[in-house]
Amino acid sequence: MDVTPDDFTRRAGALLRSAANDLKRDDENAERDLGLEPGTFHEYVGGRRPVSWELLRRAACVWPLNERDLLPVHDDCPLGLRIVRAKESAASSRVVDRAGRPYYEYRDTAMSRIASYRPEWIRMLQVVDDDDADNPDVQWNHGHLLYQFTYFVGPVNYYHRWNGGSHCVPMRTGDSVWGLPFAPHSFTARSGEEPAYILALTYGGELVGDAQRELSVLGPATARALALDARDRDAATSGVLQSFLAAGLVTGAELAARTGLAPDRVTGIVGGTARPDRDELDRLADGLGVSARELLPPVTATRGGVTVRFARDATPWHVPSTGAPAYAVTRLADDPLHPNTSALQVDVLTDEMRPEGRLTTAQHQYVYVLGTEPARVMWVADGTTHTEVLEAGDSAYVKPDVPLTFATAGGGAPRLLLLRIGGAVSTGVRSALGAMPEGGIQRYVAEDRLWYSREGN
Ligand SMILES: [Fe+2]
Repeated sequence: MDVTPDDFTRRAGALLRSAANDLKRDDENAERDLGLEPGTFHEYVGGRRPVSWELLRRAACVWPLNERDLLPVHDDCPLGLRIVRAKESAASSRVVDRAGRPYYEYRDTAMSRIASYRPEWIRMLQVVDDDDADNPDVQWNHGHLLYQFTYFVGPVNYYHRWNGGSHCVPMRTGDSVWGLPFAPHSFTARSGEEPAYILALTYGGELVGDAQRELSVLGPATARALALDARDRDAATSGVLQSFLAAGLVTGAELAARTGLAPDRVTGIVGGTARPDRDELDRLADGLGVSARELLPPVTATRGGVTVRFARDATPWHVPSTGAPAYAVTRLADDPLHPNTSALQVDVLTDEMRPEGRLTTAQHQYVYVLGTEPARVMWVADGTTHTEVLEAGDSAYVKPDVPLTFATAGGGAPRLLLLRIGGAVSTGVRSALGAMPEGGIQRYVAEDRLWYSREGN
């Protein structure tokens, strides 16, 4: 594991200081609560003494927090980009049987402890000679939590089941699909002669981590009560409006008075039978003291739990749009439910690392080299420029905000698959960072001080 212990210890210390500040414990109080030797707390929070499991256990026992609140994540990508070579992926190969017969060959590709990707290369071992969703050779799974973006290579049949209906979609190279959690699915090959595999890029996004842990405590009834209707915009808007009214003890009459809208109109909008126009939306948001975006929850465009995008329907565009293009980009399957997921096929057209070809995103990024042509990649991390050659079947994880530039490496035109996803740094968190005073962001990332000065002002 590529971990810098000193960095991990330093970040653990900063979390401990931050938690003690939140609980208004200075060093002496923290030492007394945690049973520490006098004068040692500043060594822990300064990263000069590692936070032990015993200390975590004690803190979670005497303070109203959880062990994980004090545990940093491991940084396994200190150079900003982490490559997994095709031969490393091949070394992770394992065949999984279904109904006593080999069904899939799985290989791991680039993952990181910083992002929720679980991207697999999967070869279909079951060959079928039809497109029948009820073919008895098709072995279905139970569905899984993680969202799944799938890129198809070769003659692969994709099967998905939603609310009791089973479907088969014959796919070719370049087709893609994005699917909701817990929908049963399966894949087979239509030919035993041609390569038939998929890149199954699963990820949890906002569903894993703190939200799942919180809801597992609150229970399924509360989780169901909090669920918004992601298939009906009016119902979803009604759901968030009712939440704000309940939270602020605002009645329909009070909202009508605050917004100047007719009471009947407010009743219709809050009840989901009338759709607010832009002006009404702004007035409702002002009346509730929230941003208009809070009243516009995302809805899904999936049908049968999935969005399918065929290569034959796609129109690539050039990046940049003026001058000599560096890349031809094709949009792959996505969904409005996930505005921070971008799935792209990128054909590299240039043999030079040009500034116009520099790609920077706020999203976590996954790269896989499709086809047979290698690509050169250049990236900058902590002011240092790195270059590597990515061969066919190599994959990489890239941290947010790390600029990437691609160029050809062998004369041909490399084809890349990019899947970019949001992490825990939501739009809300980004806005909160931007609202902090000078110096706030540095302390948020690594709290380094008591919340007050012992010596006074
Ligand atoms: Fe899956």
